[in-house]
Amino acid sequence: MSGVITVVAPVNIAVIKYWGKRDEELIIPLNDSVSATLDTNVMCAKTSVCVSPDFVKDEIWLNGRKESFTSPRLQNCLRGIKSRAAAERSVDDAFLSWKIHVCSENNFPTAAGLASSAAGYACLVSALAKLYKVKSDVSSIARLGSGSACRSVYGGFVHWHAGVKPDGTDSIATQIVDSSHWPQMRALILVVGDHRKKVSSTKGMKISKETSELLQYRITKCVPFRTEAICQAIRDKDFAKFAEITMKDSNQFHAICLDSYPPFAYLTATSMKIIDFVHKYNDICGEPRVAYTFDAGSNACLYLLEDEVPKVLGVIQSLFPSSTPDSFIKGLPARVEPV
Ligand code: DP6
Repeated sequence: MSGVITVVAPVNIAVIKYWGKRDEELIIPLNDSVSATLDTNVMCAKTSVCVSPDFVKDEIWLNGRKESFTSPRLQNCLRGIKSRAAAERSVDDAFLSWKIHVCSENNFPTAAGLASSAAGYACLVSALAKLYKVKSDVSSIARLGSGSACRSVYGGFVHWHAGVKPDGTDSIATQIVDSSHWPQMRALILVVGDHRKKVSSTKGMKISKETSELLQYRITKCVPFRTEAICQAIRDKDFAKFAEITMKDSNQFHAICLDSYPPFAYLTATSMKIIDFVHKYNDICGEPRVAYTFDAGSNACLYLLEDEVPKVLGVIQSLFPSSTPDSFIKGLPARVEPV
């Protein structure tokens, strides 16, 4: 048996959302997206892999449960890494033919809109890359597992370029700035619910692509300008601009969910209460000091600067008195760190 390789990969939370695929099988998005990668101390996936001539088949355990290795997404990631290893001649053919065992776990709720698949596939692909000694960029292979996973391959702020090529070879993630660029930046994850979402991201984006006119408007008229503007705001450390774009983009994404037919919604009354609180807080401050963003679930991610954290936590705890910092606020202030 080969030595066991263990890798940890962080969650990323998008500020310009990926929603809709140009190619379902290759997981090529309709639009560019931008995210921040969170510190692995707060939310991460951990994956161990090993190969052996004695293993009879590829096997995987997820959060302690044995799962099928036949999923096309898993197969595509494994095939992608192996063909890269063959091209780079990084290991010999015998090693490539041995079967693999994978064991992966998350330290946060799975499939509750907390980017678990992003961390999970980024982790799997990074572990496989290490096992097969692949040296080149693996974001396009992580993308084959789950689109947003390609952004978790890098730390700091990351831009996933939709690309234009039919084979998706230019649909890759690049780093905008590393985590040291904006050291005051923090993310607070407010866990509203850890139940599985009713409409998966994969299914939701398919319905939206087929039925939402707002989605067409968003990808052509909004995302290109927002992407450029938010990349600039990140480089300039302009929090007010960053916050405004982040909140508008989250709201537009959830508006698309309602504009889809049949419609679906991820935000709950508690999510709306958080949105309301953020706008009132920013109004009192006279400028945006906190930004919310919601993925395909009810949990909020608040972006804010370090100085604001104690004040915002205080208000949140008074708004939601039954919650405790441990139960409601899952992630404590997270620095945006590199992988
Ligand atoms: C709302 O990456 O989970 O979180 O590519 O089908 O696996 P698949 O979808 P996934 O979608 C994430 C959608 C989102 C927005 C984002 O992270 O950009």
